[in-house]
Amino acid sequence: MRMSYKLNKLNPYIPGEQPYKKMIKLNTNENPYPPTPKINNLLKNFNYYYLRLYPDPTTINLRKTIAKIYNIKYEQIFIGNGSDEVLALAFMTFFCQKLPVIMPTITYSFYPVYCKLYNIKYKTIPLKTNFEINLNKMNIPNGGIIFANPNTPTGHAISYIDITNFLDIHKEYVVLIDEAYINFGSESAIPLIKKYKNLLIVNTLSKAYSLAGIRIGFAIGSTYLIKGLEKVKNSFNSYPIDIISELIAIEAIKDIKYLKKNCNYIIYIRDKLSNQLTNFGFTVLPSKANFILVKPINISAKEMFDKLRKHGILIRYFNNMNNYIRISIGTIQQMNYLIETIKYILK
Ligand SMILES: Cc1ncc(COP(=O)(O)O)c(C=O)c1O
Repeated sequence: MRMSYKLNKLNPYIPGEQPYKKMIKLNTNENPYPPTPKINNLLKNFNYYYLRLYPDPTTINLRKTIAKIYNIKYEQIFIGNGSDEVLALAFMTFFCQKLPVIMPTITYSFYPVYCKLYNIKYKTIPLKTNFEINLNKMNIPNGGIIFANPNTPTGHAISYIDITNFLDIHKEYVVLIDEAYINFGSESAIPLIKKYKNLLIVNTLSKAYSLAGIRIGFAIGSTYLIKGLEKVKNSFNSYPIDIISELIAIEAIKDIKYLKKNCNYIIYIRDKLSNQLTNFGFTVLPSKANFILVKPINISAKEMFDKLRKHGILIRYFNNMNNYIRISIGTIQQMNYLIETIKYILK
């Protein structure tokens, strides 16, 4: 039996491990704290009778809630089943061009996977020696540009002013900024969508909102870009967002106070952990995300990964990251246990 010829070229994304036994999970940048408790009431009061109906294909209530927060029109918002789906649809909608799409060499590793899926040409631009995204080197002919800000797995963030200057140069094709980690201390480029009609910002509820389990992501951009995304989405799946997820997302988006408190606490833990590991002699990259990229001392990254795993702590090891490991920020108790375990391993 034969599969589609397309499968020969596919190189799927490998998600971080979801262990079946109890471990401290610091490998996929989930939020260690629960989402707003208002969701608990919502779920208790949800009438299961409604589950017989299809959900709203336009997710209008969630879009209106997000629109209010950002002071934009709901027609400027697109909702997807996780930002992975939003990104996949965006690659299809905008980046099938004659010229290659440009992205950093080191970034969210799903981007090249979409390129291969859709047969999109792409060109990667190496990071600077300090692991920052090199925007200047991206000033080359292109059929679109994508980068994550803050970037992953480095945690490096580009300033608002640098993004503005960059957008002044790139007006023809879509510039997509993936702001999955924007709420952990850097500035969103969303206000720039007014001026730059080719700018698309993608965000997710999986990290800052502690809702990886419901799979909701969104894109914000000009109505022209959003209409394009809708056209592709409606050629693929009209109802990607289920009734319960939409209701949960609305509660989470509305509770700005909880979001800020949750993120500020993660930032506090991140900075404390960075200092502690720096004091051990580790190289710790400055991070504006809910993870840090670190190079251990006196032990290889792989060995540290394996030893932590034996002690029930799961972090992320990349074999192309030059002896660095990525650690998601956990609860304060988890970080204390991590520090004690590292001390023990280094003894
Ligand atoms: C930069 C970046 N973008 C997007 C995603 C996907 O997030 P979601 O859970 O919304 O699909 C991730 C997940 O880790 C990510 O790191």
